[in-house]
Amino acid sequence: MPDALTIGPATRADLDAVHGLETEAFPAPWRREFFDSELAADWRFNLVARRDGALVGYLFAMWLFDEMHVNKIAVAEWARRQGIAGALMARCFTFAREHGVKTISLEVRRSNHGAQDFYRQLDFKPSYVRPRYYPDGEAAVVMTRDL
Ligand SMILES: CC(C)(COP(=O)(O)OP(=O)(O)OC[C@H]1O[C@@H](n2cnc3c(N)ncnc32)[C@H](O)[C@@H]1OP(=O)(O)O)[C@@H](O)C(=O)NCCC(=O)NCCS
Repeated sequence: MPDALTIGPATRADLDAVHGLETEAFPAPWRREFFDSELAADWRFNLVARRDGALVGYLFAMWLFDEMHVNKIAVAEWARRQGIAGALMARCFTFAREHGVKTISLEVRRSNHGAQDFYRQLDFKPSYVRPRYYPDGEAAVVMTRDL
């Protein structure tokens, strides 16, 4: 039986672990300073998920009035397919609804079919493609979901 998952606001104390996971999860990871500046910025909703005290996932989002954008979501490889990203997104949807957000959007690499499947089962739909969005030249699929 896995330990209970706890989800709460991301803080500076989480940044080493967040950045460590980021480096494992993404081919072009954000720098640590980037996460740091997101924590200091207004209109942000940044979460971490922990299991047994260890960081197992995070979600960094920005929002403004009725629009929200999920900048980052990742789960440690060993902890995937256990509903952790789903729990982070559920928390995000609750916050968004409570704050009058009407649309949530995000970008995902065109080749990242696993993440696209994840978003699709949460009712995100592909809206359009942004060519050469990522530093290595890969296109992004922009996906959106109305609340
Ligand atoms: C995408 C990611 C965040 C999903 O995290 P997760 O905690 O494993 O997701 P969940 O367990 O909540 O998945 C819920 C459902 O989404 C779908 N899903 C999730 N990952 C999937 C995958 N790799 N392939 C197909 N479907 C997937 C499934 O329907 C899954 O339900 P199931 O396990 O009962 O079949 C995780 O794979 C990850 O961190 N990937 C690397 C970073 C990344 O690509 N982030 C997104 C960038 S845009």
